[in-house]
Amino acid sequence: MSAIERVSVVGAGAMGSQIALVCALAGLPTKLYDVNDAAIEKATTSLQAWLERSVRKGRLTTAERDAAWARLQFDQDLASAVADADLVIEAVVEKLEVKRSLLEELGRLTVPEALLSSNTSSFVPSRLADATGRPAQFANLHFFNPALVMACVEVVRGPETADATVAAMMDFTKRIGKSPVLLEKEIPGFIANRILNAVRDEAIYLLENGYASVSSIDTACRTALGYPMGPFELMDLTGIDIGYYTKLGRFAETGDPTDKPSATVTALVERGDLGRKTGRGFYAYDGEGKKIEEAT
Ligand code: 3HC
Repeated sequence: MSAIERVSVVGAGAMGSQIALVCALAGLPTKLYDVNDAAIEKATTSLQAWLERSVRKGRLTTAERDAAWARLQFDQDLASAVADADLVIEAVVEKLEVKRSLLEELGRLTVPEALLSSNTSSFVPSRLADATGRPAQFANLHFFNPALVMACVEVVRGPETADATVAAMMDFTKRIGKSPVLLEKEIPGFIANRILNAVRDEAIYLLENGYASVSSIDTACRTALGYPMGPFELMDLTGIDIGYYTKLGRFAETGDPTDKPSATVTALVERGDLGRKTGRGFYAYDGEGKKIEEAT
């Protein structure tokens, strides 16, 4: 199997846009697809701001910044966005039917040798791979938020993923400067989110039962355990709705009440307080995204 030289990322949300810039910064011609004008505009603004900060901090020269930006091409037509890709990374909304119908299209629109992947945190490969029509060439590539910063990428193989696909995706992940970890056998939540969820569930238990406040729990995680941010700060960063829908999906499958989203998270999602992206979640944020108070 030949090396991955051209990448397409489908979905220009927070994850997709940063994944695309990571690829472009690593020297790979990259296309970033989204139908939504607002998503493209937001991605352009935030990626350019990140590039500018990198130049200011001496992490990139202006020539490197310009070269990376030139390698990143926005495209609002799916067929042309993926036509010459060696690898497509799907990063659209965490809804199974949306992902499956997109993957079915990608199976038709890409060259037969192209590898297909999903950045999903919710679905194991066997729920998605058959939709592509070439499950041997499919695996999950699960990046972490913020993708420009976090080193880890979980390469999740499904029962039908070929060894050559795994090898190519592991090589690709290293080529873009990330540290791949391989899941030999699929399991919901993969590695990192299973551990994170256990921590998160315990934090919510302590909060809902009146043992400690949001900020005390976050502070303990930072100052006692050395976490870079506490579980509530992290939910605000990744989006409270993301965890909510992941849990709802898991509950629909297992029927296990411990898989249900917590009352606190459900109330925040129903109010539309989804974290940093809406300016309010477990904390409130000012116009510059600075945390100003505990909101719950
Ligand atoms: N996008 C891009 N860059 C960002 C960013 C963002 N959203 N947030 C922070 N950064 C950059 C900052 O610009 C800064 O870069 P600099 O070198 O130019 O200054 C650098 O990260 C460090 O940021 P700060 O100095 O502001 O703050 P911290 O030192 O606290 O770092 C953090 C921020 C990297 C987010 C760190 O707090 C951290 O590692 N937090 C934990 C993140 C985490 O656990 N992510 C995994 C979430 S789970 C997940 O993604 C799974 C999915 O399935 C939901």
